[in-house]
Amino acid sequence: MIIHDIQFKGSFPSQHLAPKDGMAEFAFIGRSNVGKSSLINMIAERKEMARISNVPGKTQHLNYYLVNEEWYLVDLPGYGYARVSKKLRKQWRLMMDHYFKKRTSLCCVFVLVDSNIPPQKVDIEFINWLGELGLPYILIYTKIDRIKPEELEANTKAIKDALLEYWEELPQDIPTSAEKHIGREEILKIVQDTLERL
Ligand code: GTP
Ligand code: MG
Repeated sequence: MIIHDIQFKGSFPSQHLAPKDGMAEFAFIGRSNVGKSSLINMIAERKEMARISNVPGKTQHLNYYLVNEEWYLVDLPGYGYARVSKKLRKQWRLMMDHYFKKRTSLCCVFVLVDSNIPPQKVDIEFINWLGELGLPYILIYTKIDRIKPEELEANTKAIKDALLEYWEELPQDIPTSAEKHIGREEILKIVQDTLERL
């Protein structure tokens, strides 16, 4: 897929305020600092599209980008911020609950996990929640340029083992690096294939 046009459509505090045109949407989510902004910028081939923020928890809204006037890339607020209050956590949970349960135009969630560290409890809990909601998702391993192949293998195996404790089947997974431009085609192929099946 060639991305010839991207327009920022806005930042919304709730799914019912987000665009209602029913266009297919693909969401990106992950723990704080997982490399989400970098990955989105890499996919979009725009250096500063998703703000690469050093302030965790800053983006608490649903950020909508219209790609090729055909589909939405949705940058979702991350989870697992260490310094976030209980109240904010609850708000996040409520917002995401509404989003995932009510957003009928949501086609697929790309869940980012850091390939450099063993699976984190919050990641597994989040993925299990998506699974329980029955939403299609893809696992994205980030920052693979920073880790030795055998460590990457060990960390990804540990994630899969943790998921296999709950699920019979594993989701599709894609190793990526924003730094080395790895994984872009694979992600866009999933978007393309999904759009063709609609
Ligand atoms: P928050 O929005 O702050 O939660 O973070 P984020 O998930 O958007 O991550 P961001 O893209 O800001 O990246 C976090 C840090 O990881 C930054 O220092 C990036 O430079 C670094 N980083 C992101 N992607 C990669 C990658 O593919 N390779 C390497 N080596 N570093 C990366
Ligand atoms: Mg970010």
